[in-house]
Amino acid sequence: MRGKGGPDGSKRRIVVTRKLPEAVEERLRAAFTVALNPDDKPFMPDRLVKAMQMADGLLCAVTDAVNSTVLHAEGRRRAEIVANFGVGVNNIDLDAAKAAGVIVGNTPDVLTDATADLAIALMLAATRRMSEAEALLRRGGWDGFRPTGLLGAGLQGRTLGIVGMGRIGQAVARRANRGFGMRVIYFNRSELGPFFDFAAVPLERVEDVMEQADIVSLHIPGGAETRGMISASVIDRMRPGAYLINTARGDVVDEEALVAALRHGRLAGAGLDVFRDEPRVPRDLLDLPGVTLLPHIGSATVETRTAMGMLAVDNLEAHFAGRELPARVV
Ligand code: DGY
Repeated sequence: MRGKGGPDGSKRRIVVTRKLPEAVEERLRAAFTVALNPDDKPFMPDRLVKAMQMADGLLCAVTDAVNSTVLHAEGRRRAEIVANFGVGVNNIDLDAAKAAGVIVGNTPDVLTDATADLAIALMLAATRRMSEAEALLRRGGWDGFRPTGLLGAGLQGRTLGIVGMGRIGQAVARRANRGFGMRVIYFNRSELGPFFDFAAVPLERVEDVMEQADIVSLHIPGGAETRGMISASVIDRMRPGAYLINTARGDVVDEEALVAALRHGRLAGAGLDVFRDEPRVPRDLLDLPGVTLLPHIGSATVETRTAMGMLAVDNLEAHFAGRELPARVV
């Protein structure tokens, strides 16, 4: 059984790639010999390789591409575990980690509510044209109340289509159904039991959801299996005047096809918190008024980001104490 300390009784060495909430860093300093990143500059690939070579564990984030080069650092790798600060692990090559015998942990559950809240916020922002309305006001273009000014769409009685009915998808569906009186339909790649505490209708194909939903909210993981899943032909199936919400991963959507559908007015709007090539946001999206764009802040509350950090540290501590990780991916 591995002890908490290294073989010589010294504390284990952990490299942390991004600045974390203070309480999390304090706990890391107490438990490990830790290299923090107070400047919060993203690591370049060679720095990640070095970290894997000199540390016992890496605490990284979605901005770090922990690929096969990083994981197979020429036999000189020392790190046994990669603790991801995030539930999504599409930044990590899981097959390469498995092959290299590197354990990977993530941070599920603790961010479900915050992310679901943001999906609802984006839904409201898109349907009520909030970004467009605020921009008008800020540039001095508001000339007073108008009975027909900036009319949007209400949520009550509309159909919400969830793509990916995992923890976050379910939390969004519950809010939409219970809080806003929306009808919920969904597509999930595996079959789910009828265990929801809200009404939701499963559909067989993602296209079925697209054809029936007024608003589609994406909650599928990123990565090779889902890349481009919301393709041009899938977007084509969306109802005229529908809205697309994405708080999952940018690479699941064909961004060019989405821009075209918005620009031609086939879709009424979108709310996006994630992008294919972050932090780059396509100019075409920035130019579209009916789209609310946020910089990947789905889980960005003090409570949630602290809880995510604590769970990442729980994963590290469990591993070095020889226990099963509370949230292990591979
Ligand atoms: C997640 O947890 O996957 C969020 O997107 C932050 O990385």
